[in-house]
Amino acid sequence: MSQSESGPDRPGKRLRKREAIATEQTLDTSGTDSLLPTSDPFADRYGGTGWRRETGDSVAHGVAVRSEIAANDSDSLWRALVEHRLLTRLAGPLAGECFADVLAQWEEHLSALAPRSDWEQAAVVPRPSRDPAGSAELLRHAFAPVRVLAVRPADRLAAPGPATQPGVRIRPAEPADLDTAVALSLRLQRYDAQFGLVTLRPNVEGLLREALSEELRCGEPTVWLAELYGRPLGLLRIQFPPGTAWISPFVAVDRVGYVASLHVDEAARSSGVGGALAAHAHQLFDEAGVEAALLHHALPNPTSTPFWYAQGYRPLWTYWYRRPAVR
Ligand SMILES: CC(C)(COP(=O)(O)OP(=O)(O)OC[C@H]1O[C@@H](n2cnc3c(N)ncnc32)[C@H](O)[C@@H]1OP(=O)(O)O)[C@@H](O)C(=O)NCCC(=O)NCCS
Repeated sequence: MSQSESGPDRPGKRLRKREAIATEQTLDTSGTDSLLPTSDPFADRYGGTGWRRETGDSVAHGVAVRSEIAANDSDSLWRALVEHRLLTRLAGPLAGECFADVLAQWEEHLSALAPRSDWEQAAVVPRPSRDPAGSAELLRHAFAPVRVLAVRPADRLAAPGPATQPGVRIRPAEPADLDTAVALSLRLQRYDAQFGLVTLRPNVEGLLREALSEELRCGEPTVWLAELYGRPLGLLRIQFPPGTAWISPFVAVDRVGYVASLHVDEAARSSGVGGALAAHAHQLFDEAGVEAALLHHALPNPTSTPFWYAQGYRPLWTYWYRRPAVR
């Protein structure tokens, strides 16, 4: 469920562009969402080809960027190797109409750039979840809202879920638990791959082992196991500040916690184990002075979507996908 927010790294161009489009980078959050940042989290990626359409006081601005990673990069587990993103800013009552023009321009650009019918090429349009402008236009271009970055403010109250089964114990995973953590993560990876963004690479086990072995060796516990009388049945992976600096620009608070993974084995689901692990994460975040927790999840996932929203999360950014990018 975690994913990178990495983009093309072009420091030189980045600085020049920042000045040039200073006003474009300021998000108008007033009408949409108080938890959105006031400056555009994608601003450092403005460096690609851009289009702008205005009608009266409505405007659509889009910038196309391309990011590519290698198949042996751990981020390759969560995405296509090549992502073509359209970064947008829409405003005004006719924003959708303006956006339709920008999308048409981007399609032309994409068809010259992306090979056809290649599963490793995805087209992605991130949108503030509470700003519905442009949704119909995206659907017309065969995009679907597939991934969400969800947020839970620290003071959010959630109704209690199912009572945890007696005998369940939550404990930090240790280096000796590496095989267990890899096995549980693999099951999550296989489940999540059904929704089309998580990609099962031939080296998936090696990549997970490498990442988890590093996490298990770091001082602060970030990997937790739920056990029933000693039998592991749930896994939680979390990140604390400053390790969440990669994702914190996407929300309007300073101290951010990130839930990187939560998995409960199928036979143990719906008996409170997931809720107990989530409550544990929130408790640790509270102790660390976290102001908001973030996580990515696949919208069509029938277990995670209702679960997270019952835990007090709600959508902040919605990622519209088309994969392959060009048919
Ligand atoms: C999502 C997942 C971790 C939940 O674990 P779980 O142990 O089943 O969770 P719980 O038993 O605590 O809660 C599940 C049920 O209680 C409900 N629930 C949980 N908290 C609730 C609350 N505060 N109020 C009301 N209902 C609540 C859930 O909606 C769900 O309902 P259901 O059984 O009718 O479907 C588990 O289903 C799973 O591993 N899924 C596959 C992997 C996955 O998708 N992981 C998350 C990736 S983002």
